[in-house]
Parts: sequence; C-alpha cells; structure tokens
Amino acid sequence: MNIERLDDLGRGIGYLDGKITFIPWTIPGDVVEVIVTENHKKYNVAKVKHFIKYSEKRIQPPCPYFTKCGGCTLQNLAYNDTLEYKVKKIKNIFKKNKIDINLEIIANSNPYNYRNKISLKVIHGKIGFFENSTHQLVEIDGCIISNQALNKCIPLIEKMNIINGSITIRCNQNEEILIIIESQDNLKIDIDSLKKEIKLVGIIINDKTFYGENYLFERINNVLFKISYDSFFQVNSSVASKLFQIVKDNISLNDKVLDLYCGVGTLSLMAAANAKSVVGIEIVPNAILNAIFNASINSVDNTCFVLNDVSEAVSKISLDFNKVIVDPPRRGLTKEAIEVLLKIRPEKIIYVSCNPQTLVRDYKLLNDIYEIEKSYILDMFSYTYHVETVLILKKR
Ligand SMILES: C[S@@+](CC[C@H](N)C(=O)[O-])C[C@H]1O[C@@H](n2cnc3c(N)ncnc32)[C@H](O)[C@@H]1O
Repeated sequence: MNIERLDDLGRGIGYLDGKITFIPWTIPGDVVEVIVTENHKKYNVAKVKHFIKYSEKRIQPPCPYFTKCGGCTLQNLAYNDTLEYKVKKIKNIFKKNKIDINLEIIANSNPYNYRNKISLKVIHGKIGFFENSTHQLVEIDGCIISNQALNKCIPLIEKMNIINGSITIRCNQNEEILIIIESQDNLKIDIDSLKKEIKLVGIIINDKTFYGENYLFERINNVLFKISYDSFFQVNSSVASKLFQIVKDNISLNDKVLDLYCGVGTLSLMAAANAKSVVGIEIVPNAILNAIFNASINSVDNTCFVLNDVSEAVSKISLDFNKVIVDPPRRGLTKEAIEVLLKIRPEKIIYVSCNPQTLVRDYKLLNDIYEIEKSYILDMFSYTYHVETVLILKKR
C-alpha cells in the first residue's frame, strides 16, 4: 500500500481495496504491507507489517520513545516538512468548509526542548507518559520536546517514593521549577538535595503548598507574569512571545477591548499597552487573581478582570467594545459567546485557537458579518500534530 498523505492526527493515509485506511507512524512516500487492527464500515485502522519502501522524506526520529509514547507523531519528518503538513492541514480543514485561507507561518526557532510544562503519570512506582489514548504507561527518563530543566527533575522525582499518582512539572525561562504532585502515597522528599540539583521554587502536593511558593514568574515581551500552579500558560514561551506581539499589533489607541478566556491576563496586558481599556474574563480563580496582580506589578491601570464562566458573564457585560480577543479551550466558543460577539459586533475579533476544527465551526457562525483579514499558524507544539492558529477577523 502506498501512503499518500497524512490525516489531521498525523497518521499516514492509504487505500485498501478502495477503503480509506489510517496507518500510524507512516508518512507520504512510504510503501507498506499492513495488518488491519480496526475494520469499520467506512475506514480501517492498520499497523505496518513491514516497510516495502521508505519515503525519501523519512528521517530518523531523535526520540527513543517515538511510536511508543504517541506525543510527537511527526518526528520522522524534517522540521520544514512538519510545517508544510500543518499548513496543509489547516487549509484543508477550512477548504472542507468552503473557506480559502492564506496562512503566515510563525515557526519555532527551537523545535526541541521547548515545553515549559510536562504532565507525567506514576503507576506502580514507574514514571512516564500514557501511550496515546490508552492507560498504558510508557516509561521515560526524558522528553525531547521538554525543557531540559524539566527533564532534570525526572530522576529526582523517581526518588520521592511515589507509587501511584500524577506529576506536573513547570518551569520558566530562568529554569526555575514548580513540582505539582497528586498522590496519596507516603512521599519522601529531600528539599536540600533537590535544591542542589534544580532551581526549585515550590512543591504542591494535592493542591497544598508543601514547600516554597505555589507560583512561578515568567517575563515575556517585557511584561512580568505571575502564574499559579493551576493557571493556564502557553507551553512554549518563545512562540507565545510572537503570539502576544500579533495581538498587541492589532490593538490601537482608544480601543475598548474584551478578552474572553483571559487566563493570567497575558493577551489582556499585551492589548492594554495600546488600548484605552481591557476587560478580561476567566473561570479559574487563581488565574484571575494572577491577572489582577499582573496588571498591578506591570503598572497597568486600564484593565479589569472578572471571575466567571464566559457563557454566564457575557449575558451580564456591557456591549461597548470595539475589539474582542477570544482564546478558548479546545472545545471552542460556546453558543452564548458567539451570540454576544454577534450582538457586540466589534470591528475586529482576534480569535486565538488551539483546535482548528472548532475554530472553523465558530468562524462559520460569524462568517456573514466577519471576513478573515489575516491568519497565522504558530508552531507552538512542534513535532506534534497540534497547531495554534490566529484569525484576525474584520467586519465586512
Ligand atoms: C487557551 S487558554 C488561554 C488563556 C490566555 N488567553 C493565555 O494565552 O494565556 C483558555 C483559558 O480559558 C479558561 N476557561 C476555560 N473554560 C472557561 C469558561 N467556561 N469560562 C471562562 N474561562 C474559561 C481556562 O482556564 C484557560 O485559562
């Protein structure tokens, strides 16, 4: 079977007796013999029995856990080919919805070791990631897309006597570390020896601060952000910097800005540098406290932050905004959020999305009134099939 292209999850696509077949870990140009693992009415999923020919595009994946961990499905492609795939993927998703899109590519200058956060599982004392969509643990001692400061923590966490649980490790660009543990086990934590190895800022166990602080600071584009252990922050600080600049460049003097799903106030504070005023809405209490604090430490006095579910908040807010930023979670905008956008009818909507499927779904609901002025693809999640897309929408 010839592998013709990649699907939206980075799996190779070929045809078996005319039926579309998805084969993980293959790339266009590979010729393979397969074993069907799932036989559905309209498609098969298959695995490679053996390679008859390797694609000329194929490179040796640098990660020893490639195909086992399931995180970086594109490591068998050269970096520029991963970007080409991502552009095609977004264009196709829009094209299927009869929308043509021209994307400016914002590449990742460090496509390895870029993540500032990793989430690990511990099962029966073994530490690793879950295999894609399963609860099978893939034991790891490092992750090639994670900051080396995070990788350095893994052997130290192994000594903590965690039998079962979840661990998130976060760091900033200064390699300061926050370790967040969820476990009911009797842990053995030697702070002094940890501090000799890493720049430990805090340890949080089951939502309680066990040592130090429960937040990190990060400086991006000369704005300082306090980020609590449970607040969202973009996982790739270098590409986030470019995203923040795009948002800032689309805000002008006298703009009244609404920032839906504002997190710790990142995009709000970028906008505030140019705008007359900014209102941010966010559901996580610590994130909104961070946002208020972040405005204050950066001497920003034209922002206001509201703790609420966007769907609930939008029915109560004024409609006096001429620009709206939205950066929702993967599920995209709610019906209520779309309704309020159509009521406010701002001159511009800056839609930041980590899920192109919900992005296009939402854009279609705005499409009568808004057209795409500019669109960007940011390689926030290099070597994975995930992408960050930004649409600058202007009123027709
Ligand atoms: C993709 S993040 C964007 C955060 C921020 N714009 C940034 O770039 O750092 C989405 C944010 O939406 C928040 N969120 C999720 N569901 C929400 C809801 N129903 N109402 C308000 N905020 C929500 C999450 O807590 C998270 O902070």
